[in-house]
Amino acid sequence: MCEIAADDVVGSVMNTSTSAIKPCIGVIERYRTFLPVSEATPVISLNEGSTPLIPAPRLSSIVGRDCRVYFKFEGLNPTGSFKDRGMTVAMSKAVERGASLVVCASTGNTSASAAAYAARAGIQCAVLLPSGKIAMGKLAQAFVHGAVVIALESNFDRCLSLIRELSTEPRIAVVNSINHDRLEGQKTAAFEIVDALGEAPDLHILPVGNAGNTAAYWKGYAEYLHAGHSTRLPRMLGFQAANAAPIYYDRVIEQPETIASAIRIGNPASWKMAKAAFNGSAGAIDIVTDAEILSAQRWLATNEGLFVEPASAASVAGLLKCCSENKCAQCPVRLLPEGATIVCTLTGHGLKDIAAVMSDSPKPLFASPTKAEILAILRKSR
Ligand code: F0G
Repeated sequence: MCEIAADDVVGSVMNTSTSAIKPCIGVIERYRTFLPVSEATPVISLNEGSTPLIPAPRLSSIVGRDCRVYFKFEGLNPTGSFKDRGMTVAMSKAVERGASLVVCASTGNTSASAAAYAARAGIQCAVLLPSGKIAMGKLAQAFVHGAVVIALESNFDRCLSLIRELSTEPRIAVVNSINHDRLEGQKTAAFEIVDALGEAPDLHILPVGNAGNTAAYWKGYAEYLHAGHSTRLPRMLGFQAANAAPIYYDRVIEQPETIASAIRIGNPASWKMAKAAFNGSAGAIDIVTDAEILSAQRWLATNEGLFVEPASAASVAGLLKCCSENKCAQCPVRLLPEGATIVCTLTGHGLKDIAAVMSDSPKPLFASPTKAEILAILRKSR
């Protein structure tokens, strides 16, 4: 078992020389000088960010060589995913520019976040979603926050190209990551990691869909290095689902398919920027199968106590793959020094998408309400 020292229990805002430890502030207030906002920008915030960096003792011991693995648990943002970091900036800038309607295409989490922040801002929100491909929890979020929900008999990539067409309409703001305000907000996760660890990690692992988050983290690490808050950049390692892996295969996938609906994307908008991050950091892009994703999701829940949605489990599935016989030839994990620090971003909360877990779970054991019967069941299940 890998030992985690007491001083290893890093919270979200320890060891920070740059950001004062103020409770209850969102990413714009925490990192204002790094963001495209001015005094005139109305801050639309739900106190997103400042998510915990959680040590992963069991995963660390699997990696071995005294490496320390941490989870950046983005499922603890207000709408349950990392999208809120970008949405606070995109929504604030949209309101500043006088937008009365925000629009986005989504595999679910962007729409949930856009709907919530639009409600907060008091403006309208419309979301384009691939019909039948959105997890129920995410759909419920879009509805409950009052968004106009439009389902298309098509995939995410087509939804996004329609959003590009809508972007020329007056007073409509696009809040997908093709709007760079989103990436500006999302880069703050890299700042928080450096603030918590006191240095950039050796390796950063994350799932890849539209590839905006990869681009945002890379930008964040580079800006913090440039500002003197760290002395190095991490290797970036991304994982796509095996049948939705355009960057890995270096070609558009017309019909992407995966159980991890959040990353069912065949033509990522930030493809070039993500590739620059993988190449520029001496990292890599690799794939994991749906079976590996579901197995990692369950492993994480039962061994580390964290419940994430399938797409989020792709980063852990990837790291487990890197520690197995099945690792890729250029695996950056093999190149890590002893005692290296590895961060896996867990992008979204498991409660958003419970379908796969419930279809694979045992039923509850029914009992009559007596102590004897319960003890009998407990004896049998030990
Ligand atoms: N994980 C989750 C939970 C996501 O929702 C997404 C993307 C990703 C990973 C991939 O991040 O696109 O920046 O590479 N979700 C988008 C959406 C596409 O519409 O919610 P990415």
